[in-house]
Parts: sequence; C-alpha cells; structure tokens
Amino acid sequence: MHSTFGQELKISVWGASHAPEIGITITGLPAGERFDLNEIQAFLNRRKGGQNAFSTKRSEADAPVIQCGVNWENESTFVTDGGKLTALFINNNVRSSDYDEMKYIPRPSHADYTSYVKYGDELDRSGGGIFSGRMTLPICFAGAVCMKLMKDRGIEVFGHIYSVENIADTPFDLTNPDRNAIGKEFPVIDKEAGERMVKMMTGIAGDGDSVGGIIECAVTGLPAGVGEPLYDSMEALISHMIFGIPAVKGIEFGCGFKAGKMRGSECNDPFVIRDGKVKTLKNNSGGIQGGITNGMPVIFRVCMKPTPSIYKEQKTINMKEMTETTLSLIGRHDPCIVPRAVPCIEAAAAIAVYNLLVLYDNGRKQFGTIREEIDSLDEKIAGLLCERMELASEIAKEKKAKNLPIRNEEREEAVLRHVEEVGGEKTGKYIRNVYRKLIDETCLLEEEYLDE
Ligand SMILES: Cc1cc2nc3c(=O)[nH]c(=O)nc-3n(C[C@H](O)[C@H](O)[C@H](O)COP(=O)(O)O)c2cc1C
Repeated sequence: MHSTFGQELKISVWGASHAPEIGITITGLPAGERFDLNEIQAFLNRRKGGQNAFSTKRSEADAPVIQCGVNWENESTFVTDGGKLTALFINNNVRSSDYDEMKYIPRPSHADYTSYVKYGDELDRSGGGIFSGRMTLPICFAGAVCMKLMKDRGIEVFGHIYSVENIADTPFDLTNPDRNAIGKEFPVIDKEAGERMVKMMTGIAGDGDSVGGIIECAVTGLPAGVGEPLYDSMEALISHMIFGIPAVKGIEFGCGFKAGKMRGSECNDPFVIRDGKVKTLKNNSGGIQGGITNGMPVIFRVCMKPTPSIYKEQKTINMKEMTETTLSLIGRHDPCIVPRAVPCIEAAAAIAVYNLLVLYDNGRKQFGTIREEIDSLDEKIAGLLCERMELASEIAKEKKAKNLPIRNEEREEAVLRHVEEVGGEKTGKYIRNVYRKLIDETCLLEEEYLDE
C-alpha cells in the first residue's frame, strides 16, 4: 500500500481509523528548526471532532507523540535534529463494534467496496480504515510543521468555507486575500452566512443526512518562480496532495472553471509595476502561470462531497453473498465534513508548496539567480558595518583621552591577518583588501570624531 508523498520533504502516513495508533514520518526536514508544540496542537484542534452538532461524536485527544527526529528544549519546545521525524497519535475513542454487522455491506460512496475489491479481508476497514477522515490528523501535523517553516519566510496558508450547499461566504479578494477577515470560531468571512451554515448543518444532522461544500484556500507571500514546468507544477503538486484528503471531488485555481466561459480580454491578468515589483491587476490565474508562481497569491477552491455515511436507509449489497440489501447506519459521522476539512486543506497545500519551495531554493543556487540573496546579505553587511563604525567613535574617544595616534599598524595587521584567515585560501586575500579599505575609512571617521 502506497501512502507517501514528496521528494524534497517526504511524508509517509500509516495506521487506520480503529488501529491502536496512526502516524506520520517526515523525511527531509532541515536541522535546527524550532517548533512550539502548543502552536501545532492549536492547529490540530481545528480539525478535531466531537466539538459541535455537525461533527462526528468521536472525540480524541489528537495529541502528537513525537518519537524521533527532535531534541526537546523544554516540555513544549522542540528542535529538529535533521533526521526522520516520526509522530504518532493514539486512537482511544474507537467503537469497532459499530462496523461488525456491515463488514460485507459497503456504505454507498465510501471506500468500503473498492478497498474490499483491492485488499479483501486482509485490510482493516473498520471505521473506514486508512480511508477514514481520521488519517488527515497526521497530515495536519506535517502541514503545521511546513506552515511554521514557511511563515518564518513570510509565506502563509489559510482557508475559509466558501460555501456549504447553497449558502455562500464572501469570497477572497483574489489579488489580496485577508487572513484576518476569517472568523476564529467558525472559518467564514461573513459571520451571518456562517450562522446560516451552522443552522443548516445542524438541521441536516437531525435528518440523518449529510451535506457538502467548497473550501477556498490562499497561499500568500510566495516569490515568483516557485513550481516546475509540466508534471511538478504548482497546480499539480497542490492537487496531488489535496486529493489525498478523503471526500475531495474537485479543485480549481484562480477563477477556475469560470475561465471556460470568458474571453481572453476578460480572463487575462494584465501586468503592472507597483513599488518596483511586478504585479497583476487581476488574479484569474490564481497566482500561477505555466505551473510557476507569478508572485501573486496562489488561490484555489476545493469541492468536498457530502459525507457518504448517512443514517437514512440506502440501497447497497452484501459483497460476500452477492445479494442486494439495504443499510441503515449506526456509528459516528460528520454530517458535514467541510468545517473540519479547512485545516486539512491548508495542511495539504502547505506540504505541497513547501516541497516546491525547497526545489526553488535549490534551483536558485544551482543556476546562479542569486541577486536577491546578495541584496539581503548586503543589507546585513551594511548594518554590521554601521555597527562597527559606530564603535569607532568609542575608540576615538579613548585614543583622545590617552593621547594615542589614530593609526596602529600592529593592531591593523592583526585584524587583516585574522580576516584573511577567516576568508580562507580562495577569498582570504580579497577580504584582506576589503578590510584594508574598511580600516582606512574607519580611521577617517575616527579623525572626524576627534575634530568634533
Ligand atoms: C475530516 C474528514 C472527516 C470525515 N469524516 C467522515 C465521516 O464521519 N463519515 C464518512 O463516511 N466519511 C467521512 N469522511 C470522508 C470519507 O473518508 C471519504 O468519503 C471516503 O474515504 C471515500 O473517499 P472519497 O470520498 O475520496 O472517494 C471524512 C473526510 C474528512 C476529510
């Protein structure tokens, strides 16, 4: 059974809904990255069940047990050690007996039938087995890790409920989606629409039925140039991960399927320069062209089908006896998956985007397009030079007090020798020259201080 994803950051998920535990192994994390377990837990809690009338009554702690790959600084802070990180989650609140009678009676539109055809009795299908929504918990863990790594670079991933059945939230502004506009309690922008959704979902739960919806997700702060042509495009990798979330039926980027009804003059995103940066006036492309980010927010929408497990009587079969029958479910299910799936979608997208970001970083190094890196280094160097020169004023005061000359050849030579050594065989002599000039300029500054 294949349940891995990713090249640069590889995730591998295991376990099943009613197994003693489920978990994830993440390979390729950089060493020395610091994480706050409380922040990760807060993210995981967003997908927790048992919290309201429209989610499953199954309630678990959902607390990760990190087995390897980290060093603990204190009980809630860990630092990656560069090895494989394995986190597992104990399944405590399991009621497998709910599934005993339906072992050979597949729930319509769940994976019971297809997984039986493929794996037979060997596979534990109780509670949906590996096809259960529970398997999104380890994905959310890996997603939280990727989100933290990207947030440190100003990249954020956030989503909201775009619609449930026919009730629609305010959509994102495609050119400038606002994370802060999304409610903390219930992930919608329009509070009133959210209240109507909650009322409708609660009613549906009471009817023993289920309902689907759409989630809109944004990735902001990505530089232009992330994503590979053709098969590892930004759309391809995000979609690959997103379809690993059970109950996903479709995905569209930017203006999505509406593009099929537009003319080029309406659909194209005109380029402009704003504050020296390339932007587009619209964002029907969803921030991606040719599979590569263009620097605008990456925006996509995901369609989630209604939960297949419903309590209304349904036609089905007995797979063993090859007879037709009906099924009236018992068990605990989400009448609407959409609210719990919002963090799952964010997490899946974060894992995909992080993989492409690592490729982007590697590519930039490989092909020498490192101007931005030089600019950022220059900023740091200039800051440090400033600090160094300010210290010169202190030295100048001391020299004046002690009546010492500004130039001190012995000290200068020691500094030059030291930086030459630091620079090493190849660049040492050049760094020495730079420092020769730096010392001359610093002495001029000291003289200025003395004159004052
Ligand atoms: C967070 C989450 C919770 C889910 N909860 C349930 C559930 O309670 N009952 C159910 O039948 N399906 C649930 N699903 C969906 C099924 O796992 C999914 O429909 C099933 O595996 C078949 O896969 P498919 O719909 O992708 O074809 C959930 C999915 C997610 C993402």
